[in-house]
Amino acid sequence: MLIWDDPIGQTQERQTRALARGMLAAEILEAVERAEESSLTSRPTEPASMASAPLPVEEVSPARAAGLEKVEFGARRLAVDDKQMINCRADLNQLVPFKYKWAWQKYLNACANHWMPQEINMNADVALWKSRDGLTEDERLIIKRNLGFFSTADSLVANNLVLAVYRHITNPECRQYLLRQAFEEALHTHAYQYCVESLGLDEAETFNMYREIPSVHEKASWAMRFTESLGDPTFSTGTTAADQRLLRDLIAFYVIFEGIFFYVGFVQVLSMGRRNKMTGVAEQFQYILRDESMHMNFGIDVINQIKVENPQLWTEQFQRDILDLIHEAIALEIRYAQDTMPRGVLGLNVNMFEEYLQYIANRRCAQIGLPEQFPGVNNPFPWMSEVIDLKKEKNFFETRVTEYQTGGALSWD
Ligand SMILES: [Fe+2]
Ligand SMILES: [Fe+2]
Repeated sequence: MLIWDDPIGQTQERQTRALARGMLAAEILEAVERAEESSLTSRPTEPASMASAPLPVEEVSPARAAGLEKVEFGARRLAVDDKQMINCRADLNQLVPFKYKWAWQKYLNACANHWMPQEINMNADVALWKSRDGLTEDERLIIKRNLGFFSTADSLVANNLVLAVYRHITNPECRQYLLRQAFEEALHTHAYQYCVESLGLDEAETFNMYREIPSVHEKASWAMRFTESLGDPTFSTGTTAADQRLLRDLIAFYVIFEGIFFYVGFVQVLSMGRRNKMTGVAEQFQYILRDESMHMNFGIDVINQIKVENPQLWTEQFQRDILDLIHEAIALEIRYAQDTMPRGVLGLNVNMFEEYLQYIANRRCAQIGLPEQFPGVNNPFPWMSEVIDLKKEKNFFETRVTEYQTGGALSWD
C-alpha cells in the first residue's frame, strides 16, 4: 500500500529507477508498494507476455468474453499466457494457473481482514447523539451528511462492480477479488444502515440525500456517467474506443470515486473519533476506509496491467481527458467539504480539505502514471496514513485488535 505521507518525489524516483531496470509498470507499482512497507503487500505481476501480441479481437464473442460460452469437450488445456485482463479468449472458469498472483493475494488479504458492522459497539454513540448538548449542530451535520452520502454511494459502487465491471474483466483471479469486493460493499452499506438505525436517524432523509442535497447529488450523478456504458448489455470491449471507455470508467470508479470522493467524509468522521466523539460510527468508517484502500489499490493494479497489455489505449488525449476528470472531481469534493462543514469545526476547515484533496490527487496521478497536478502540496492530515495502515497497530480507539481473522469456527458435533 502506498503511504500517503511519503513525498511524491520519492515514489517517482523509485519508479524511474525501476523503469531503468526494465520492469513492467505493474511490477514497478508492486516494488514501490513493497518499498513503502505495506502490511497488505501485493505480489509481483507475471510478465504480460502477450502485450506485444494483441488478440484478434473479432474472435472474442460477447459470451466468451463474459465467461459464458459452451464448455468444449477435449479442448486444449489452459496455459498461463492465454490469460489477459481484458478481451481474453481463454476459458474464464479456471482460476489456476494464476497469471496475476497479486490479485489472488489481495483476495486472500481481504478475506483475512473480515469484519461485521454489528460487532462494533454503538452504545456510546447512541447516548451522545441523544444527549442535548453532547454535540454541536455542526458536528451533527457532519454525521448526517456523511451517512447520507455513503449509504447510497456504496450501493452505486456495488452495482457498478456486479452489473458493469465484472463482465468486462476477463480474468478469473481478478473476478475472485471483485466478488469479495462486492461483498465488502454490501457490508459497507450494511454498516451505514446500522449507524442510521442505531442513532434513530430519519431513514428517508438519509437515503434520499443523493436526490435532495446538491453536493451529494452531484457526486453520485457524476459517477453514474461511468457505469452506464459498461452496464449497457450491448456494450462490448475489443476496439480501441471501447477499451478506452472501459479503462476510463475503471479510473473514474477506482481512482476518483473510491479514491477521492470518499476522503473528505473519512477525514471528518475519523476526526470526530479522534476527539472521542461518535467513536462507534468512526470505528465503522475506519474499517471501511481500510477496505476502500485495498479496493483502490486493486483497481490501480488492474488499470496499470491493462495499460501494460494495451499500450495503444494510453494516448496523450486520453491522459488529458483523465486529468480533466480528476480536476472536475476535486471541485465537486471541495463543494462537498463546504456543504458538510460550512464553518470550521474539530480543528478542520475547508482550506485544509482543498489542500488535502490536491495532495491525494497527486498521489492518485502518480499511482497510474500521470504527472502530479499540484506540486509542493503537503498533507494536512498525516494521521490518516496511520489509520489506513491498520494492521501495524491497534486501532486508535482501542476497542478491539485490528488483525481480525475469522475461520475455523465450525463445529460438526
Ligand atoms: Fe465501500
Ligand atoms: Fe469500495
